[in-house]
Amino acid sequence: MTEHATLGDFDVSAAWHVAGPYPFLARLRREAPVFRSAQLGAYVLTRYADVRAAYGDPRRFSSKGSLTISRSLTQETRDKLGEHGSFLSSFVANVDPPDHTRLRGSVSRAFTPRAVAALEQEFRRLNEDLLDRLAPCGAADFVTEIGHEPSVKLTARFIGVPEEDEAFVQAHVKDWFQLFLSPQPPQRQLELAASFLDYLAYVDRLVAERAARPRDDFTSLMTSLIGAELTHREVVELISTILLGGNDTVPNQLGNTVLRLLREGRWPVPEPLLAGASEECMRIDGASLGSFRYATDDVVLHGVTIPAGSLVLLSTDSAGHDESVFPEPERFLIDRPNAADHLVFGYGIHFCVGAALGRLQLRTALEVLGRRLPGLRLVPGQEIAYRRSLVGRGLTGLLVKW
Ligand code: HEM
Repeated sequence: MTEHATLGDFDVSAAWHVAGPYPFLARLRREAPVFRSAQLGAYVLTRYADVRAAYGDPRRFSSKGSLTISRSLTQETRDKLGEHGSFLSSFVANVDPPDHTRLRGSVSRAFTPRAVAALEQEFRRLNEDLLDRLAPCGAADFVTEIGHEPSVKLTARFIGVPEEDEAFVQAHVKDWFQLFLSPQPPQRQLELAASFLDYLAYVDRLVAERAARPRDDFTSLMTSLIGAELTHREVVELISTILLGGNDTVPNQLGNTVLRLLREGRWPVPEPLLAGASEECMRIDGASLGSFRYATDDVVLHGVTIPAGSLVLLSTDSAGHDESVFPEPERFLIDRPNAADHLVFGYGIHFCVGAALGRLQLRTALEVLGRRLPGLRLVPGQEIAYRRSLVGRGLTGLLVKW
């Protein structure tokens, strides 16, 4: 293990950990490219080349169990959850080949270029509807009132959640996300576990309904594969986690993006620059900070041995700011030629299956918002705060007016 007493460490309880870790990450890239973080209980890779190579080497950097911290659940919570205590253990991002290859093949069927393109009009309409209601107000919290709704609704339609159930699903997804992905005190765990079991019962009903009467949605497509390619449990986990992908990452990325563009004085973004601007915003203010892996073997890198079994954080946030790939990384360049080389969607076999859909939503939202609210600006004097998270960057609020 390497000790770098002078470097400091990630501090997951501090705002800078998510909001502005860049001077710290730059020092790690320079002085400790394989950093042992006592706070995270993980080794951290920060150089672009190393992060990419580790994503590209699933044999030595395993995804199995890397997504869940459910090991922090109390025995009482586990008993309550029963067989569901290891929820997500068969989710596509949480397994290695050969299971991964099979699951990825099934889920990819729903994300064909045609299927994704077909969602563009729907997403545009959801944004226009929202603005029809909000535009006369002249001010809003971008995060809670603008950024989330269209993505959440689009994901619900994609999955096949009826409109009247959207609010229920939304509330329960939040609960299970907290239960499995962030440490909670024992009493809270039990409340969240109860909510999670209600949610599972709901998804079970949805699967049964679609099995009986298929429609043109993700749930019907995945349900039709039960027995042939997928198990019932795998389908339930897939549905749950796709909801998470749509409910959280895209809105977080949109919030980060709008904040960046307003601060840089680049609002509204002209149509020809939209795609490049989105990539540069993902590079510099990514909604995903990185992915965890387990070393399957002793891995020696830059003279440091990462012992077999260690947790490793691949810091895509740092990779996006690596000066050897992105010159002057802290500068926002709306037409940076290689901005799209960022690793915010991961890389390799687990590369985000929703990346095309995420990109489409970002570009479309920026286009509609720019046209409908060209005078968008930040409310002065507000404190910009991020949710505390190990792997995601999202604002708690963003006051805007127009
Ligand atoms: C800006 C938005 C998004 C970001 C930043 C993002 C980020 C990521 C990252 C970093 C991974 C790789 C995880 C790993 O290697 O451990 C991933 C995988 C995945 N993402 Fe996304 N994502 C976004 C949007 C979406 C959307 C919209 C969906 C679905 C509707 C989605 C579904 C998935 C799935 C199913 C995987 C697992 C793929 C696999 O393991 O093969 N994501 N995402």
